Amino acid sequence: MSPNLLILGGTTEARRLADAVAAAGHQGIVSYAGRVERPYPTALPHRIGGFGGTEGLATYLRTQEITHVIDATHPFAAQMSAHAVEAAQRTGVPLAALTRPAWQPGAGDNWQAVADIPAAVAALNGPPRRVMLAVGRMHLEDFTPNPQHFYLLRLVDPPEAALPFPDCAVEVSRGPFTEAGDRALMQRHGIDLVVSKNAGGSGARAKLDAARALGLPVVMIDRPALPPRTELHETAEVLDWIAHAGVNLGV
Ligand SMILES: NC(=O)c1ccc[n+]([C@@H]2O[C@H](COP(=O)([O-])OP(=O)(O)OC[C@H]3O[C@@H](n4cnc5c(N)ncnc54)[C@H](OP(=O)(O)O)[C@@H]3O)[C@@H](O)[C@H]2O)c1
Repeated sequence: MSPNLLILGGTTEARRLADAVAAAGHQGIVSYAGRVERPYPTALPHRIGGFGGTEGLATYLRTQEITHVIDATHPFAAQMSAHAVEAAQRTGVPLAALTRPAWQPGAGDNWQAVADIPAAVAALNGPPRRVMLAVGRMHLEDFTPNPQHFYLLRLVDPPEAALPFPDCAVEVSRGPFTEAGDRALMQRHGIDLVVSKNAGGSGARAKLDAARALGLPVVMIDRPALPPRTELHETAEVLDWIAHAGVNLGV
């Protein structure tokens, strides 16, 4: 039986994988949550929107006769990833995750590691700072207990509603970003602290290199815990896994 893949997307890595899968002649579909207005096109078709929890995803896997699930979501998309593991177990469809290694601090970095978003919010208790808040649109509200700071927000789409901070600026951009560009951005806004999720990967790394170059501290939010699963880091490894993972139609 030839592969029919479901790629859970929303990342650069998922896009690259979709193009590689299509080039290899495999059939498949990329799934997006629908958080951004226009997902980048890939060489595979796509669908948009949640599946309706674990049960909805399991039903989707069965009805669409999916042979392999590749979870290439962002490392902070913990709910989707947990649902994928459970739905794959229920249906017997093999699952692998295409993940990025977490960023590690190097010489010259001044990182304060925090466990999660609430811990990052707590780390911002204190006198007013000028903060680059690189946590994504969905988590801005969490930071409202600390309205004393100026916040620089970088968002993929222009905000539709008023932002929840009295003093903030928005940079609308989806990258790719460069160290020089992010350094200039931070200097333009007088940033003295960066808050970042430990997303890993190269695309969003620029702000950390810029923070290091400017001697700025970084509050680094650890990744959420995920259930055990097969983790692969390269597109080629996924193609190899597709070729060798057992195909099971589910029961
Ligand atoms: N979290 C981040 O920092 C971040 C950063 C960059 C990109 N993204 C991307 O944005 C999307 C949403 O992230 P999130 O953190 O909001 O996810 P999440 O909290 O783990 O997921 C919440 C719900 O959104 C739906 N969903 C999430 N990803 C989906 C996908 N690829 N296809 C279909 N439905 C999906 C699922 O709904 P149902 O339960 O109804 O199936 C899921 O239960 C993901 O695709 C992720 O790769 C996230």
